[in-house]
Amino acid sequence: MSDETPSVIVRAEGGVARLILCRPERRNAFDAQMIEELTAAFARFKDDRATRVIVVEGEGKAFCAGADLEWMKKQATATVEENAAAALKMADLFEAVNCAPQAVIAKVHGWALGGGAGLVCAADIAVAADDAQIGFTEARMGILPAVISPYVVMKIGAGQARRWFVTGARMDAKQALALGLVHRVVAAADLENAVRDMAFEVLQCAPGAVAGCKELVEDVVGGLAMAGALEDGFSDVKNYTAQRIAAARVGEEGQEGMKAFLEKRKPRWAQ
Ligand code: COA
Repeated sequence: MSDETPSVIVRAEGGVARLILCRPERRNAFDAQMIEELTAAFARFKDDRATRVIVVEGEGKAFCAGADLEWMKKQATATVEENAAAALKMADLFEAVNCAPQAVIAKVHGWALGGGAGLVCAADIAVAADDAQIGFTEARMGILPAVISPYVVMKIGAGQARRWFVTGARMDAKQALALGLVHRVVAAADLENAVRDMAFEVLQCAPGAVAGCKELVEDVVGGLAMAGALEDGFSDVKNYTAQRIAAARVGEEGQEGMKAFLEKRKPRWAQ
């Protein structure tokens, strides 16, 4: 880890970790240091079962202005292999966000552009201020929304991804809500409370079940995509889902959750 001023501030309290992107003078654009620090922050919480929600937010006027264009421009003097290695680090970051066992909430204000919009897509939940502007602006810079594309396509579908990628246009918060890119839009002054409400909802759920729900969606999407190509593809998906619920029913969390309901008390994880 570098000795420089941190680009990501980490605060954890009451089961909720805040990862605050902190390069406000660059509108929180991602350079190598920020990518490394944010990836390390997700790694730090990977096995931390006490942390059940991760909120990603931006300091200053923007959520995140995407990849640092100054840094990317300098990459032109690097070899193809060096460029690919740098891009892979960015891809590892998005994978870490997508696969975090916690529910990840993107708290979006100001601009979320390029990789910043990708971060919104890789999160489980996005809550946006009504002033937010979101866009996949890469094509306007002559580049591609490459490493973020799996998460964008998963979130808004191929048709909408094509429309927003080839125009590089920015959408407002209402348009993002209609697309399912964000899940709630509130006045800027209410953004913090809306994020806290969303975190509170997650904290009513069992931590293992939250991680399991995320895996379930990923596996079912992959399974359904393959189902047509495999002889008994849909049966495989059916069997997989039956096995997941069977394991959850007999699991410690499942037993506690159902018992708590029947005993008219809160399960041990609920706040
Ligand atoms: N990479 C590097 N620097 C960036 C940046 C980025 N992605 N986004 C903003 N900055 C820098 C600006 O160059 C400027 O630096 P300066 O003060 O040395 O001139 C500083 O951050 C503030 O940006 P500015 O454009 O003056 O602020 P603004 O508040 O008027 O506008 C944005 C903010 C985010 C709308 C605008 O900066 C922007 O469009 N940035 C590009 C975002 C983008 O398309 N990202 C995708 C990259 S593929």
